[in-house]
Amino acid sequence: MKVIAILGSPRPKSNSSALARKILERSGELGAETQEFVLNKLQYKGCQACETCKTKLDHCVLKDDLTEVLEAIHKADAVVLGTPNYFGEVSGQFKSFFDRTYSFLNPDFTSRLTGGKSSVIIMAQGQTNLNMYADVYSRYEAWLTRYGFANNFSLRMNGPRPAGSVEERQDLITEAQKIAEKLILLTPKNH
Ligand SMILES: Cc1cc2nc3c(=O)[nH]c(=O)nc-3n(C[C@H](O)[C@H](O)[C@H](O)COP(=O)(O)O)c2cc1C
Repeated sequence: MKVIAILGSPRPKSNSSALARKILERSGELGAETQEFVLNKLQYKGCQACETCKTKLDHCVLKDDLTEVLEAIHKADAVVLGTPNYFGEVSGQFKSFFDRTYSFLNPDFTSRLTGGKSSVIIMAQGQTNLNMYADVYSRYEAWLTRYGFANNFSLRMNGPRPAGSVEERQDLITEAQKIAEKLILLTPKNH
Protein backbone atom coordinates (compact mmCIF):
# COMPACT_ATOMS: atom_id res chain seq x y z
CA MET A 1 0.00 0.00 0.00
CA LYS A 2 1.52 3.32 -1.07
CA VAL A 3 0.18 6.67 0.09
CA ILE A 4 1.66 9.84 -1.40
CA ALA A 5 1.07 13.51 -0.59
CA ILE A 6 1.34 16.38 -3.06
CA LEU A 7 1.66 19.65 -1.18
CA GLY A 8 0.67 22.94 -2.80
CA SER A 9 1.57 25.46 -0.09
CA PRO A 10 4.78 27.49 -0.30
CA ARG A 11 4.84 28.06 3.49
CA PRO A 12 7.49 26.05 5.36
CA LYS A 13 5.06 25.60 8.31
CA SER A 14 1.96 25.28 6.15
CA ASN A 15 -1.21 24.15 7.86
CA SER A 16 -2.49 22.18 4.85
CA SER A 17 0.88 20.42 4.58
CA ALA A 18 0.92 19.68 8.32
CA LEU A 19 -2.50 17.99 8.07
CA ALA A 20 -1.39 16.00 5.02
CA ARG A 21 1.65 14.84 7.02
CA LYS A 22 -0.66 13.69 9.86
CA ILE A 23 -2.36 11.43 7.29
CA LEU A 24 0.99 10.12 6.01
CA GLU A 25 2.16 9.55 9.60
CA ARG A 26 -0.93 7.50 10.58
CA SER A 27 -0.84 5.61 7.26
CA GLY A 28 2.80 4.76 7.95
CA GLU A 29 1.92 3.50 11.44
CA LEU A 30 -0.66 1.23 9.79
CA GLY A 31 1.95 -0.22 7.44
CA ALA A 32 1.74 1.95 4.34
CA GLU A 33 4.76 3.16 2.41
CA THR A 34 4.60 6.97 2.23
CA GLN A 35 6.18 9.74 0.16
CA GLU A 36 5.64 13.50 -0.12
CA PHE A 37 6.26 16.04 -2.87
CA VAL A 38 6.46 19.76 -2.01
CA LEU A 39 5.46 21.47 -5.25
CA ASN A 40 7.10 24.77 -4.29
CA LYS A 41 10.50 23.07 -4.22
CA LEU A 42 10.07 21.65 -7.73
CA GLN A 43 10.78 23.25 -11.11
CA TYR A 44 7.95 22.67 -13.57
CA LYS A 45 5.72 24.26 -16.16
CA GLY A 46 1.97 24.25 -16.37
CA CYS A 47 0.24 22.37 -19.20
CA GLN A 48 1.35 23.72 -22.60
CA ALA A 49 -1.87 22.56 -24.33
CA CYS A 50 0.27 20.87 -27.00
CA GLU A 51 -2.14 17.89 -27.01
CA THR A 52 0.78 15.48 -27.46
CA CYS A 53 -0.75 13.36 -24.66
CA LYS A 54 -3.83 12.97 -26.87
CA THR A 55 -2.20 12.59 -30.29
CA LYS A 56 1.20 10.87 -29.89
CA LEU A 57 1.93 9.79 -26.31
CA ASP A 58 0.07 8.23 -23.38
CA HIS A 59 1.81 10.59 -20.96
CA CYS A 60 2.91 14.22 -20.70
CA VAL A 61 5.67 15.13 -23.17
CA LEU A 62 7.21 17.66 -20.74
CA LYS A 63 10.21 16.37 -18.81
CA ASP A 64 10.67 18.30 -15.59
CA ASP A 65 10.33 17.79 -11.84
CA LEU A 66 6.62 17.06 -12.20
CA THR A 67 7.32 13.97 -14.33
CA GLU A 68 8.19 11.96 -11.20
CA VAL A 69 5.09 13.26 -9.39
CA LEU A 70 2.75 12.23 -12.22
CA GLU A 71 4.39 8.80 -12.36
CA ALA A 72 4.06 8.45 -8.58
CA ILE A 73 0.30 9.02 -8.85
CA HIS A 74 0.10 6.13 -11.34
CA LYS A 75 1.81 3.84 -8.81
CA ALA A 76 0.07 5.11 -5.65
CA ASP A 77 -2.91 3.47 -3.95
CA ALA A 78 -3.93 6.72 -2.24
CA VAL A 79 -3.11 10.35 -3.01
CA VAL A 80 -3.33 13.19 -0.48
CA LEU A 81 -3.60 16.63 -2.11
CA GLY A 82 -2.92 19.66 0.10
CA THR A 83 -3.43 23.30 -0.84
CA PRO A 84 -4.06 26.68 0.73
CA ASN A 85 -7.01 28.70 -0.50
CA TYR A 86 -5.77 31.66 -2.53
CA PHE A 87 -8.46 34.06 -3.76
CA GLY A 88 -11.15 31.41 -3.49
CA GLU A 89 -9.12 28.78 -5.37
CA VAL A 90 -6.24 26.38 -4.95
CA SER A 91 -2.70 27.84 -4.96
CA GLY A 92 -1.01 28.60 -8.29
CA GLN A 93 1.53 25.88 -7.61
CA PHE A 94 -1.28 23.36 -7.15
CA LYS A 95 -3.25 24.53 -10.19
CA SER A 96 -0.22 24.26 -12.50
CA PHE A 97 0.34 20.73 -11.19
CA PHE A 98 -3.33 19.79 -11.61
CA ASP A 99 -3.44 21.08 -15.19
CA ARG A 100 -0.65 18.62 -16.03
CA THR A 101 -2.91 15.74 -14.90
CA TYR A 102 -4.70 16.36 -18.23
CA SER A 103 -2.19 13.75 -19.42
CA PHE A 104 -4.08 11.14 -17.35
CA LEU A 105 -6.91 11.33 -19.89
CA ASN A 106 -7.13 9.29 -23.08
CA PRO A 107 -8.24 11.03 -26.31
CA ASP A 108 -11.83 9.96 -25.48
CA PHE A 109 -11.42 11.43 -21.99
CA THR A 110 -11.50 8.08 -20.22
CA SER A 111 -8.80 7.65 -17.59
CA ARG A 112 -5.33 6.17 -18.03
CA LEU A 113 -5.04 5.64 -14.26
CA THR A 114 -5.88 2.27 -12.74
CA GLY A 115 -9.26 2.63 -11.02
CA GLY A 116 -9.96 2.22 -7.33
CA LYS A 117 -7.44 4.63 -5.84
CA SER A 118 -8.38 6.85 -2.88
CA SER A 119 -7.88 10.57 -2.48
CA VAL A 120 -7.93 13.22 0.20
CA ILE A 121 -8.12 16.91 -0.65
CA ILE A 122 -6.97 19.17 2.21
CA MET A 123 -7.65 22.89 2.01
CA ALA A 124 -6.67 25.58 4.50
CA GLN A 125 -8.37 28.97 4.36
CA GLY A 126 -8.21 32.23 6.34
CA GLN A 127 -11.99 32.68 6.42
CA THR A 128 -13.71 31.20 9.47
CA ASN A 129 -16.95 30.45 7.61
CA LEU A 130 -16.65 26.99 6.03
CA ASN A 131 -19.60 27.72 3.75
CA MET A 132 -17.22 29.99 1.89
CA TYR A 133 -15.29 28.11 -0.81
CA ALA A 134 -17.24 24.86 -0.25
CA ASP A 135 -17.43 24.61 -4.07
CA VAL A 136 -13.68 24.14 -4.51
CA TYR A 137 -13.63 20.57 -3.19
CA SER A 138 -16.58 19.41 -5.30
CA ARG A 139 -15.01 20.74 -8.51
CA TYR A 140 -11.68 18.96 -7.99
CA GLU A 141 -13.36 15.83 -6.64
CA ALA A 142 -15.33 15.58 -9.90
CA TRP A 143 -12.07 15.34 -11.86
CA LEU A 144 -10.64 12.77 -9.46
CA THR A 145 -13.78 10.69 -9.96
CA ARG A 146 -13.27 10.92 -13.73
CA TYR A 147 -9.70 9.72 -13.19
CA GLY A 148 -11.13 6.63 -11.46
CA PHE A 149 -10.57 7.51 -7.81
CA ALA A 150 -13.19 5.54 -5.89
CA ASN A 151 -13.01 6.78 -2.28
CA ASN A 152 -12.59 10.51 -1.94
CA PHE A 153 -12.30 12.48 1.29
CA SER A 154 -11.92 16.14 2.18
CA LEU A 155 -10.45 17.91 5.18
CA ARG A 156 -10.74 21.67 5.62
CA MET A 157 -9.03 24.00 8.07
CA ASN A 158 -10.68 27.38 8.63
CA GLY A 159 -9.86 30.57 10.50
CA PRO A 160 -7.07 33.09 10.37
CA ARG A 161 -4.45 30.77 11.87
CA PRO A 162 -0.75 31.46 11.66
CA ALA A 163 1.48 28.93 9.96
CA GLY A 164 2.29 26.03 12.26
CA SER A 165 -0.93 26.21 14.29
CA VAL A 166 -2.35 22.81 13.38
CA GLU A 167 -1.25 21.46 16.77
CA GLU A 168 -3.97 23.70 18.32
CA ARG A 169 -6.65 21.91 16.25
CA GLN A 170 -6.90 18.50 17.87
CA ASP A 171 -10.28 18.05 16.13
CA LEU A 172 -8.60 18.25 12.71
CA ILE A 173 -5.68 16.05 13.76
CA THR A 174 -8.15 13.38 14.91
CA GLU A 175 -10.10 13.74 11.62
CA ALA A 176 -6.85 13.36 9.64
CA GLN A 177 -5.97 10.18 11.56
CA LYS A 178 -9.47 8.75 11.00
CA ILE A 179 -9.23 9.50 7.27
CA ALA A 180 -5.89 7.64 7.16
CA GLU A 181 -7.52 4.63 8.84
CA LYS A 182 -10.33 4.67 6.24
CA LEU A 183 -7.80 4.94 3.40
CA ILE A 184 -6.02 1.83 4.60
CA LEU A 185 -9.29 -0.08 5.07
CA LEU A 186 -11.03 0.93 1.83
CA THR A 187 -8.24 1.08 -0.73
CA PRO A 188 -7.41 -2.07 -2.66
CA LYS A 189 -3.62 -2.53 -2.82
CA ASN A 190 -1.38 -2.63 -5.89
CA HIS A 191 -3.22 -1.05 -8.75
C1 LIG B 1 -2.16 35.10 -1.92
C2 LIG B 1 -3.10 34.70 -0.81
C3 LIG B 1 -4.45 34.70 -1.07
C4 LIG B 1 -5.34 34.28 -0.08
N1 LIG B 1 -6.69 34.28 -0.37
C5 LIG B 1 -7.55 33.84 0.58
C6 LIG B 1 -8.94 33.84 0.29
O1 LIG B 1 -9.40 34.23 -0.77
N2 LIG B 1 -9.78 33.38 1.25
C7 LIG B 1 -9.33 32.92 2.45
O2 LIG B 1 -10.14 32.49 3.28
N3 LIG B 1 -8.01 32.92 2.75
C8 LIG B 1 -7.12 33.37 1.85
N4 LIG B 1 -5.77 33.38 2.14
C9 LIG B 1 -5.31 32.84 3.46
C10 LIG B 1 -4.81 31.38 3.33
O3 LIG B 1 -5.78 30.57 2.69
C11 LIG B 1 -4.54 30.82 4.75
O4 LIG B 1 -3.50 31.54 5.35
C12 LIG B 1 -4.23 29.34 4.73
O5 LIG B 1 -4.21 28.88 6.05
C13 LIG B 1 -2.89 29.05 4.11
O6 LIG B 1 -2.68 27.65 4.06
P1 LIG B 1 -1.24 27.03 4.36
O7 LIG B 1 -0.96 27.25 5.83
O8 LIG B 1 -1.38 25.59 4.04
O9 LIG B 1 -0.24 27.74 3.50
C14 LIG B 1 -4.86 33.84 1.19
C15 LIG B 1 -3.48 33.88 1.44
C16 LIG B 1 -2.61 34.30 0.46
C17 LIG B 1 -1.12 34.32 0.74
